[in-house]
Amino acid sequence: KKSMPFFGKKVLVTAGPTYEAIDPVRFIGNHSSGKMGFALADELAKLGADVTLVAGPTSQKATEILKRIDVVSAQNMFDACTAIFEQTDITVMCAAVADYRPKTISNQKIKKQDSDFNLELEKTVDILATLGKNKKPHQILVGFALETNDEENYAKGKLEKKNLDLVVLNSLNDKGAGFKSDTNKITIFNKALERRVFEVKAKDEVAKDICNAILKIIQ
Ligand code: C5P
Repeated sequence: KKSMPFFGKKVLVTAGPTYEAIDPVRFIGNHSSGKMGFALADELAKLGADVTLVAGPTSQKATEILKRIDVVSAQNMFDACTAIFEQTDITVMCAAVADYRPKTISNQKIKKQDSDFNLELEKTVDILATLGKNKKPHQILVGFALETNDEENYAKGKLEKKNLDLVVLNSLNDKGAGFKSDTNKITIFNKALERRVFEVKAKDEVAKDICNAILKIIQ
């Protein structure tokens, strides 16, 4: 049991980017590789959790036994997450979800024109904030924050606004952190706004640190 501290826990992890269609051949995406979320899902499964991984478009492969739901858009990811959230004990939202999507999706490929072209965007639904609103006291919710400036204040703000138990900050300013990298450098804040700063590590080692931070809350 000691090596399976998450045994019996239902865990939801999101990973990767979302793609928001413009027309049949184009989309708005981002540089998220999904590596951090997959490393987390694998580690949680190794530690005994019953993991469901909701993954945006990514070439990552999960190695441990877990349930995987592949999605494309923010709306798809929202639907997948809300369908299972009530049954989950712990949710970790690692995905880089698009904040905006094209207001209309063209059925046909948009033709090149002589003039400039304006694409109207509308807000996507904030999955994490929605889950935060619906969270029951026994449920643990962990969010990520990637910032380029004033990181710590944004991270703390997110923790409170989205009703999170932990927020994991990774800064683009740190060497060895971020998108395609195999390493990450994180800072974790808990609800008491206590801060733990970690060194640059391989993403599977970072996953262990995040699991330990979650265990500190549930044990
Ligand atoms: O507010 P911001 O997008 O920076 O918050 C990042 C956190 O919120 C991440 O955990 C991300 O997975 C989650 N998020 C989400 N749905 C969105 C936007 C962000 O779940 N539409």
